[in-house]
Amino acid sequence: MNLDGRTALVTGASGGLGQAIARALRARGASLVVSGRRADVLEALAAQVGGRAVVADLCDRAAVDRLAGECGDVDVLVANAGIPADGPVLEYSPEQIERALDLNLRAPLLLARVLAEPMVARGAGHVVFVSSLSGKVATANSALYSATKFGLRGFASGLRQDLAGTGVGVSCLFPGLISEAGMFHDTGLDLPGIAGGTRTPADVAAATVRAIERDVGEIDVATVPARVWATLGQVAPRLIAAMNARFGGTEIAAAIASSEAHRSKR
Ligand SMILES: NC(=O)c1ccc[n+]([C@@H]2O[C@H](COP(=O)([O-])OP(=O)(O)OC[C@H]3O[C@@H](n4cnc5c(N)ncnc54)[C@H](OP(=O)(O)O)[C@@H]3O)[C@@H](O)[C@H]2O)c1
Repeated sequence: MNLDGRTALVTGASGGLGQAIARALRARGASLVVSGRRADVLEALAAQVGGRAVVADLCDRAAVDRLAGECGDVDVLVANAGIPADGPVLEYSPEQIERALDLNLRAPLLLARVLAEPMVARGAGHVVFVSSLSGKVATANSALYSATKFGLRGFASGLRQDLAGTGVGVSCLFPGLISEAGMFHDTGLDLPGIAGGTRTPADVAAATVRAIERDVGEIDVATVPARVWATLGQVAPRLIAAMNARFGGTEIAAAIASSEAHRSKR
């Protein structure tokens, strides 16, 4: 779908990847509705991209309904808001688990359900879910995050098939570790070479544009080693689990999860 003249809602637009996605959609001619919790960041972004800011806490179910109600006319939904939800699950309270499920999984599904209906009626639209390579392969310290991100993958794949022929496309993005801005960057950690390197928010934004304009179902936004690791993890999960334990993947995931930047978002 051509983005020029379309309207797009980007959730998590106050964050590292969301800001890059919003700017990239604007550069392709879309009008923006940017959503998140930090009103000051959203207002500044909205002023830069000439869009509208809607503050909504997507762990609050009434706020999800309100956002969906206010955005019924959008042509594009980019469901990008998310929290790391990493670390050992036994450290999580039931309430923290609910919050992760609400934000990372329930809100994207509900927004897609409500917003796709008028898109189908108009015969045009696109829904993008921002998953993660952790939505293809789980590691130690990723159980809860992976549960939400695997869930997005399954929902996106099924919804894409449900909506085939309606003019509404569905895509799922799988970023690996992203440098320069966003939840991994905020940890301040230096990655050892074994982790396979990073991509950038601009790469995620370019993939979002490509997904919409070319109606691509799934796109990895990750380095070649990370993509090989994810592919291997799907065909040989026991092998990749053993390799993570043997070659440092488990330690890297633990260091990221125990950073203050991630612990504070539980
Ligand atoms: N960065 C990476 O390396 C990476 C890799 C793979 C996948 N991802 C995925 O990419 C997406 C964006 O991540 P990011 O790196 O840009 O993270 P980020 O910089 O931490 O941004 C997260 C965004 O989610 C919003 N958010 C958090 N809690 C919310 C809530 N309760 N209600 C509404 N919005 C809420 C934040 O809004 P406020 O700050 O205004 O609260 C912010 O805009 C996430 O889904 C993440 O899982 C990121």
